[in-house]
Amino acid sequence: FDPVLSTPPSPQPLKPVQLIELRAHGRFGEVYKGTMATEAVAVKIFPMKEKVSWMMEQDIYKLPHMKHDNVLRFIAAEKRDDKLWLISQFHDLGSLCDYLKGHKLTWLDMLKIGESMAKGLAYLHDDIPGAGHSEAKPSIAHRDFKSKNVLLKSDLTACIADFGLALKFDAGKSAGEIHGLVGTRRYMAPEVLEGAICFNRDAFLRIDMYACGLVLWELVSRCSAAEGQIDNYQLPFEEEVGTHPTLEDMQEYVVLKKCRPTIKETWLRHSGLEVMINTIEECWDQDAEARVSANCVHERLIALSRLTNV
Ligand code: ADE
Repeated sequence: FDPVLSTPPSPQPLKPVQLIELRAHGRFGEVYKGTMATEAVAVKIFPMKEKVSWMMEQDIYKLPHMKHDNVLRFIAAEKRDDKLWLISQFHDLGSLCDYLKGHKLTWLDMLKIGESMAKGLAYLHDDIPGAGHSEAKPSIAHRDFKSKNVLLKSDLTACIADFGLALKFDAGKSAGEIHGLVGTRRYMAPEVLEGAICFNRDAFLRIDMYACGLVLWELVSRCSAAEGQIDNYQLPFEEEVGTHPTLEDMQEYVVLKKCRPTIKETWLRHSGLEVMINTIEECWDQDAEARVSANCVHERLIALSRLTNV
């Protein structure tokens, strides 16, 4: 705006939001179910000292082309009562992690969740060139991909949430080299655990793909398509390192021993699950450059759906 001729744009009037119940604890704040007018919303409340995370997360949501079925829909960010709020769509089923604790998956449930999750991740990773009046979308690395940050919609498709650590990479601009021992230890790729110092765009996308492999493993571990019993839900590596692994625990298993979550023999005897497992192993390859892209995982899951839906 022109400071001489006009007044600054006034902020949108705040619609009243009523907080109803605490639903989740995030890295930087708590998530409540609330209502805004008649709509159910999720409200993530950050303390003031987490202002940087609140800013970073809304900056990602406000990028062009961030409306996608498989990316959590952002509604607003505002300061209220000395706290920082981030308001988004509410999904009653909550996170994939919570869902897997309480539910087994049929073969079709598993494919639907896996395919929609890969579609969301591929969309984030892709850039969209600007054209005419349409703005460009940069490639985005999530950097904290895990089953807690994948939400399930009521039709059992996935949407990706929690962009507090995400990074954007504008096409043609060199991102500089960004240091990166961030994310959740359990889901850290070997090169992150090893303490490699800097990564470029492609390296960050490959780090997301490693974590995506672990989440796909979580899906398979709760899928009823294989013969035999289905174990209670466990996080990836929970069997090996328990619920509160140190960085050293993760380094020992993932870097030194090159361990990955257990693949049961019964899974490999199911021809569809075998394809899933092959894809998972290509996601979590020790060699980052050998990992498949999110687009490729998405394509494979679509092909698998076509084969098994007939
Ligand atoms: N937990 C974290 N974010 C959520 C959301 N948007 N809806 C439901 N549960 C959530």
